[in-house]
Formats: sequence, structure tokens, C-alpha cells
Amino acid sequence: MIEETKTIQVMRKPSSQRMVDDDAQAGSFRVNRGAFVDEEVLKRERDAIFDRCWLYAMHESELSQAGDYLARKVGGKPLLFVRDRVGTLNGFFNACPHRGMTVCREKSGSARTFTCFYHGWTFDLQGKLVALPDAAGYAGKPDAPEKGLKHVPRMEIYRGLVFINFDADACSLQEYLGNAMEYIDLMLDFGGDEVEIAPGQQRYSIRSNWKLLVENSIDVYHAHSTHNRYFNKFLPDMGLPARTWLNVSDQAPGRAIALDNGHAVAETMVRSGPLLKTAAEELGEVRRKLVEKFGEERASRIADYGRNLLIFPNLLFISTWRTIRTIYPTAPGYMEVDAWAFLPKNESSHLKKLRMDNFISFLGPAGFGTPDDVSGLESCQRGFFEGADTLWSDISRGMHRDPVASDELQMRAFWRRWQTMLDGGPAPDTYGDTPPNSQADACEHGAACNGGNHE
Ligand code: FES
Repeated sequence: MIEETKTIQVMRKPSSQRMVDDDAQAGSFRVNRGAFVDEEVLKRERDAIFDRCWLYAMHESELSQAGDYLARKVGGKPLLFVRDRVGTLNGFFNACPHRGMTVCREKSGSARTFTCFYHGWTFDLQGKLVALPDAAGYAGKPDAPEKGLKHVPRMEIYRGLVFINFDADACSLQEYLGNAMEYIDLMLDFGGDEVEIAPGQQRYSIRSNWKLLVENSIDVYHAHSTHNRYFNKFLPDMGLPARTWLNVSDQAPGRAIALDNGHAVAETMVRSGPLLKTAAEELGEVRRKLVEKFGEERASRIADYGRNLLIFPNLLFISTWRTIRTIYPTAPGYMEVDAWAFLPKNESSHLKKLRMDNFISFLGPAGFGTPDDVSGLESCQRGFFEGADTLWSDISRGMHRDPVASDELQMRAFWRRWQTMLDGGPAPDTYGDTPPNSQADACEHGAACNGGNHE
């Protein structure tokens, strides 16, 4: 009878909206699997997270010339980015102010104006309505601002990375990024020059919840088994050394760090992608230039470590493969993924090709890594429906110690921020682990609480 009661308690959906069970005293951190399948959760995520957070949209290098444009969905909304004649980057909703048609139906290109296919309204590069058939048919001025393309409420740029925010009252991008800016810098400085996006873009979908790929993208622990074939078969077949630390230890050397605002990083002692082993001399030259530019200590931080960096909620930088990735859910069990390679501007074509080969052979949609991950995540999602014996996922690894790279602190930071935003509660002092017996842990108000006076 006792066993039966236990089963009912475990299988029942939590009565409150809290999906994260964070217990520092017990060293336990669990996420209810309703967070991956519930339509209501997705609706709340759209309102409380994707419509409030700074979202990565593009890199400035993608629109280098006046008239360059690209149309892409960001945070589920169709947007149009245009470089105007004075060099300003403009971001618009790609929807006609007349009756809503998609104004720009090409993905990218160069234009002087944009003419809507439906009734022929024409907009300039700053979004102003400049021509329309039979303008006299309308009272008032045809070039009134409300007749132009609607600007995205906020757009700010850091190191060429263009972010937008649908919340006009959001904090600044710099405040939002906080101490994650330091890790973005470490990511972007690897070639000793500014980076640019390599031509082309990967676009694929996965039949699983978007948060599973967030977890997976900063999860060093899974590489050991999920990608065993790549590290221990494909690389030796190519005459390259296998990733030996994957064989000898479940604790990847390195560390996991919870950064400001739910951002997080897993940092490993992995210098570069495996295929770059054949370019040791050229990489040595790059490193010497980094020492000249930044000094030995910072050059070492840039060149001697690999990092998987999450900018909450859905932007990932993966340094081993020089990849930027964004994720967006179109349903609880379905996500769309966009990915780009970022490369130093003035690097030799030989090194650029090696970096691209490295990226595509592992993280390309048909590479050795992505299909492994896609298969694994879709299998997880099926497991949420097909007789899983518990409705909770365990993300507690490393709670009782200084987390190493293959622990799960980085995921806990994400989930704590996620829960705080869905709750609409005050931000805690940290999204990292708090030591057992601390005031915050003892508080009945849980992880979103800073342990202060609640009266
Ligand atoms: Fe664009 Fe009518 S909907 S001109």
C-alpha cells in the first residue's frame, strides 16, 4: 500500500507551476518532464522568456554593404534586417503594415527598396513607405510613420553580434550579458582578429523539446558514450589520435561555471577541433600572435581551452567546432535549429577550410555528431511518453563538489533562470549552486528566493 502511494505521488503532475525541484541539502536537482511536453508550459515560455530576453539575430558581417538584407525568424517572429545607405543596421517585422503580407520573400540579397507583392506598397531601406498605387485613395499623408515597416522594439550589438528584444522596457544588452561578455570575448578572439560568419547556414529540426538541445549543447558528460564512434573510431581511422580522456575518465578536465542571468559555460582542456591537428604549425603561429596581442596569460585562456557557452535562453557558442547555434520551439516536442560557423576575417584559406571541415564533419546535419545528438534527443522525447517510470529528470551531477566540466552546474543555472522567469519572481543573487545549510537553501520559498525578509 505504501509503495502504491509513492507511485501515485511520483507520476502526478506537480500541483504548482514549479517544474524545478532544487534541494541543495539533499544534493538533488530534478526537472519535471511536464516541462518538455506541456502546451501550457510552451505558451508561458513564449510570453515570459522569448518575448522578454535578448535574442541573437545575426552577425554584422552578414550585412556588410548598403542595401544588403536578410529575412529570418527570430524568437518565432519573421524579421527583416537591412543595412541602409548611411550604414545603419535596421531591424523590422517582416510584415506589411497594409494587410500583413510578408514584405521580403527572399532570404537574403541586396535591394534599394522592398515592394510588397500583394498591393505594391514600396518601402525604402529605413522602412519608410515611399510609393503606393493610387496614393490619393487614402486620406492623410502616405509617408506617415505608421504606414512604414514596424521596427523591432530593441536592437543592440556586442562585438558584431546583433541581438533583438521584443520588450521595449528590457535592460540594456550589456547588463543582460553581464559577466558572460568575458566568455564571448574569449570565444571570438581565437584567431587574433575579428570574426565573420562563413557563407551559408545550417537549418534543421528535431522532434524533441528545445530545452533538451540547450542541455545537450553544454553537456560534456554525454560525449563519452553518445559520440564514442566519432572519437574512438572515426578519428583513428583518419590517422588522428582518439580523445583519450574520454576513455580513461568520466570526469572531463575543466570546470563548469554559472554566469549572470542564467548564462553558463563548460570549459575544457581541449585546444582545437580534432581535424586541426594537421595544422599544428599554423595554429602555433596564431597562438604566437595572440601572445603578442594579449599577453601569455590571456592568450592561454583563449587558445588552450574549449568552451561551450550558453547565452540564456537559446544561443550557444561551441568553440571546438566554431559554431553559433540558436534554437526555437514550434511545439513542445519540436524545435528548429539554425547554425553558423564563425571564422577569423583574415585567416589563410587553408586554415579556414580546415576549420569548416572540422565543423561540418562533426556538427553538420549529416556529420558524425549532430545525427547522434538528434537521435538521442528524439529518443528522450519518446521516452517521456512511452512508459518512463519517473516523471523527473536528474540534473544533480556535481552538486556536492566543485563542478568539473562534465558535471551539470551549467544546466542547473539554465533551469534556475528558466523557473525564475516563468514564476515572474525576483532574481536570486546567483543561479549557481548554493552550499548546503546556507540561508537561501533553508528558506521555504525555494530557488528563486534570496533568503531575505519576506514580511
Ligand atoms: Fe502589402 Fe497590401 S499587404 S501592400
